[in-house]
Amino acid sequence: MHPLVNVAVQAARAAGQIILRHAHQTDRLTVTSKGKSDFVSEVDRAAEAEIVRTIRRFYPDHAILGEEGGAMGEAETVWIVDPLDGTTNFLHGIPHYAVSIGITHRGKLAHGVIYDPNSNDLYTASAGGGAQCNARRIRVSRTESLERSLIGTGAPFRDEERVRRYLPQLGAVLEETAGIRRAGAAALDLAWVARGRLDGFWEMDLKPWDIAAGVLLVREAGGTVTELFGRSEVMDTGNVLAGNLRIHAAIARCFESLRNTPAALPSDNDQG
Ligand code: IPD
Ligand code: CA
Ligand code: CA
Repeated sequence: MHPLVNVAVQAARAAGQIILRHAHQTDRLTVTSKGKSDFVSEVDRAAEAEIVRTIRRFYPDHAILGEEGGAMGEAETVWIVDPLDGTTNFLHGIPHYAVSIGITHRGKLAHGVIYDPNSNDLYTASAGGGAQCNARRIRVSRTESLERSLIGTGAPFRDEERVRRYLPQLGAVLEETAGIRRAGAAALDLAWVARGRLDGFWEMDLKPWDIAAGVLLVREAGGTVTELFGRSEVMDTGNVLAGNLRIHAAIARCFESLRNTPAALPSDNDQG
């Protein structure tokens, strides 16, 4: 395992322990709102602080972009940290959330670690080195047809304009596929595409910390990840379409056919 991945794993497991320790007393936590339907608890902050401490111990000169702490330092190597992806699930006692740590080098995704503390599943990937779950190689699914596919998604919850654009997409995927899942943790959605549980996944407006590790995992597992509207880099816009090669292409075609639906078109703000 690459030394950076080793440290990321150590940090993710330590954060996972903090999260699990509080999982049965979420009603006693101080929860604040960062915006509409966007909550943060003291557990998110404590988990991120632990991750930052671990990174700093080994790599004091690296930069960190944390969901809670923002950008810290400047360097060629940047750690992109979501200490608790799936906070809403966590706060509702739904055991589906994860710690996500992506590492970029000179702007390129280099390593990714996603840790699910409930299942104890540890996902790792390094550019060119494949993707693993609990040290075993994982691959995307082999599902070929949309009608047999199970697709993960994330529904917009921050702004109404996006809801309007999302509904035609949802309708199209519901019509064409075997079903959808909105599980509530984008990092795990991507990890599940990488391991073949889901055949595809899409969501708009995700942040770098939601997807840095997951995008690399899917690609290293043989899957495809692109910007949903095919305009620019997925890491820049956060509009994600992921899947095995065929399912990715089929959903892209399906969304392409929505281009005549005004509500489904990206707005000028999404040029990326
Ligand atoms: C959220 C989750 C959710 C996705 C949201 C994210 P958070 O992350 O990944 O599945 O739909 O867009 O913000 O806030 O729980 O870290
Ligand atoms: Ca997140
Ligand atoms: Ca989070």
